[in-house]
Amino acid sequence: TFEQAVTKLVRDFEYSDEQLKEGVKEFKQRRLEGLAADGKMLALAPTFVTDVPHGDETGDFLALDLGGTNLRVCHVKLIGGGKYEMKQSKFKLPREYQQNEEVAPLIDYMVDAIEKFVKDNFPEKFGCADSEKLPLGFTFSFPMSQTSITESKLLRWTKGFNIPEVVGEDFGQILNERMKERNVPVVMEAICNDTVGTMVTRAYTSDAKNTFMGIIFGTGSNGAYIEWTKNIGKLNGATDAPQMALNVEWGATDLDILHPTRYDLLVDHDTPNPGKQIFEKRVGGMYLGELFRRALFHLIKVYGFSNGIFPPSMTDAWSIDTSILSAIVKERTADNVRSVLNKYKIRFRSDEEALMLYDCAYAVGRRAARMSAIPIAAILEETGRLGQPADIAVDGSVIEYYPGFENLIREGLRVLIGEENEKKVTMGIAKDGSGIGAALCALQALKQKKN
Ligand code: BG6
Ligand code: GLC
Repeated sequence: TFEQAVTKLVRDFEYSDEQLKEGVKEFKQRRLEGLAADGKMLALAPTFVTDVPHGDETGDFLALDLGGTNLRVCHVKLIGGGKYEMKQSKFKLPREYQQNEEVAPLIDYMVDAIEKFVKDNFPEKFGCADSEKLPLGFTFSFPMSQTSITESKLLRWTKGFNIPEVVGEDFGQILNERMKERNVPVVMEAICNDTVGTMVTRAYTSDAKNTFMGIIFGTGSNGAYIEWTKNIGKLNGATDAPQMALNVEWGATDLDILHPTRYDLLVDHDTPNPGKQIFEKRVGGMYLGELFRRALFHLIKVYGFSNGIFPPSMTDAWSIDTSILSAIVKERTADNVRSVLNKYKIRFRSDEEALMLYDCAYAVGRRAARMSAIPIAAILEETGRLGQPADIAVDGSVIEYYPGFENLIREGLRVLIGEENEKKVTMGIAKDGSGIGAALCALQALKQKKN
């Protein structure tokens, strides 16, 4: 029956305490491999960001953000005291630029956006001397291997992007070259991952001490944290700094214990990178809505739910996003579920049926949050931070809008590190992470250049 099907579906998405514990064990092993050498499952990519800011930093920068929901260009003024002023423009990124043989259309679209922003805000800069050009920090939210704050190589695309031409290339420098060719008076001084941007932004803006990690729960999922350089064998003494932020790229985690449901397999199959980024495909917002849509499809087709008619507006893969899940989970009442799904013309025979769909949406989100506790717990333990006050900066559409996501992560953390230790972990949203973070990284790059 329909009811049994829902019960099974919810059970399929359960992620047990035992599985969580197994996950931590395996993750720790993968971390050690990634610290020792390149090319492992976890990139643990050195970022050359060797300190978190203290709040007294000042400076004036442009910032660019590629890899979340929108492309953004910002002007950031760091005014010290953890304060800043920011002005930004958002641009939708057409899908044809994200999946393309060649990179030129995407780069030109980005340079167009920057050029427009500079024309509107700094028209006097056109034609200025090289030394007068506006410094730009670039938040590039993809896996890259870095040899300095400005130099990077793209390791692979994630989150539905697929532009084979530039894998292995320095995306930031391609952008820089194009800005030069087009006489846009801007120089990219730093490239950073969004997780790093999030971490340094919270360190700069909040009173929290001990911010040591930045996590994005958005379109994708990933974290960065501060590691002792003596533990990063693969650095081979490339820096004198005692610490460095590492971009874990934990979305790539593919442990035996990430048991796929049939819906996971279907979703994975429909991506440009099947078999890759398995953890991200359980946790990232880009995938949660699609998992739910697949589950719904199954209930309608096989169990005749909603008169067996699949709503046309939901027929295409990726046609609904996580915001629908978030809206359903907001309140466990039939009225709420009905009102969210009404516009999709989903028909319920009873209030119970509506509540069952709530349970499905909740199950998909709960699994994502619980799994997210794995890398957090493993890193806390392995870096000797367990039991000490440890602060984590977070950002992204899932943690911001999916009701109770942080509490569900904490539920998983309690299983893994115990309640006492879990209580010592603080978390807070780092607003404007990509803008402020990119500016802070550019500032660090300019300082390193001077030395
Ligand atoms: C933003 C950060 O708030 O969150 C970005 O500033 C980040 O750098 C983004 O990429 C992730 O969220 P989403 O949900 O847009 O992918
Ligand atoms: C993907 C990217 C990673 C990024 C994350 C969050 O996992 O590979 O670099 O940090 O999404 O945006």
